Amino acid sequence: MFEDKIVLTGVKPTGHPHLANYLGAIKPAISMGHTAKQHNMFIADYHAINAVKDPKILNQGIKEIASIYLACGLDVNKSIFYRQSDIAEIPEITTILYAYTPKGLMNKSHAYKASLDKNREAGKPDDDGINMGLYTYPTLMAADILAFDADIVPVGKDQVQHVEIARDIAGAINAHYNATLLKLPEFSVEDNIAVIPGLDGRKMSKSYNNVIPLFADKKELKKLVFSIQTDSRPMEEPKEPEGILVYQIYKALAPIDKQQEMAQGLREGKLGYGHIKNMLLDEILRQTDEARDKYEYYMAHFNEVEGMLEDGAAKARPLAKRTLERLKNAVFGRM
Ligand code: TRP
Repeated sequence: MFEDKIVLTGVKPTGHPHLANYLGAIKPAISMGHTAKQHNMFIADYHAINAVKDPKILNQGIKEIASIYLACGLDVNKSIFYRQSDIAEIPEITTILYAYTPKGLMNKSHAYKASLDKNREAGKPDDDGINMGLYTYPTLMAADILAFDADIVPVGKDQVQHVEIARDIAGAINAHYNATLLKLPEFSVEDNIAVIPGLDGRKMSKSYNNVIPLFADKKELKKLVFSIQTDSRPMEEPKEPEGILVYQIYKALAPIDKQQEMAQGLREGKLGYGHIKNMLLDEILRQTDEARDKYEYYMAHFNEVEGMLEDGAAKARPLAKRTLERLKNAVFGRM
């Protein structure tokens, strides 16, 4: 499906990913790397500094996210893997894009508007705590995408607007110079990915504090799985699996035959909540154990990962440079 496409994925290095992030974003991104004509996978560390001001925390976040993608199977021979801040052309391109980005477009950006709404709710001044990095976030993101002539940008629903902004800016520049200087990217949203419920039954999300972290240690993981909400019906009572939270999470994860086994056991009153929690725990461990070992390896040998990121930057920079040159030639009339 993506064989002739340039696919670009960016991830902010903020916070340890959870199971829903893994299934909805990490796994699909890695498999795309295996099929696309070109796949760029980068760590959006310039985007992160808008919010994260402690270098230790930031660095830890970058280490974790890089190690996680590698542990989960990112192949640096297939995907160009780099840090945003290693590509000096990206902020240069951003500066050119600014000149074609209406301020009104930034006013409408969801990320900025959410902060504005929060301030208003709290009775604070509109601009309280809002820096220019946050305000102009979509322009930098546009440069991330446009620098590499990306065809497809896989994103979650919350990021669709940002890809549309990238298209708008690219379209404005192309129209002004009456030339195809920038490729118009398309977003791709996986809509057949199930919403994975968290420990309390609401959507699994950091903001609800109901997540199962991807690489929690085993004791912690067991505690979390056993804290998933259940009721007090006895084992023997036949139960409709769909109404049971443990089953819903299991369904997002386990292969179909295992799902059916759990469903049948519940319907026949042969499996109790303790059983199905253990089944879920085993399945999570089964699917993440190998990656967990690799993750720990990369965290402990991060210099190897640094090397991969440097190699990735060396591949990415000439590509971004080409775009920058094209833009500069047009903007400054150097053709
Ligand atoms: N804004 C994205 C997020 O918060 C991260 C990101 C930055 C990104 N630049 C990008 C995603 C470019 C895709 C393409 O998830």
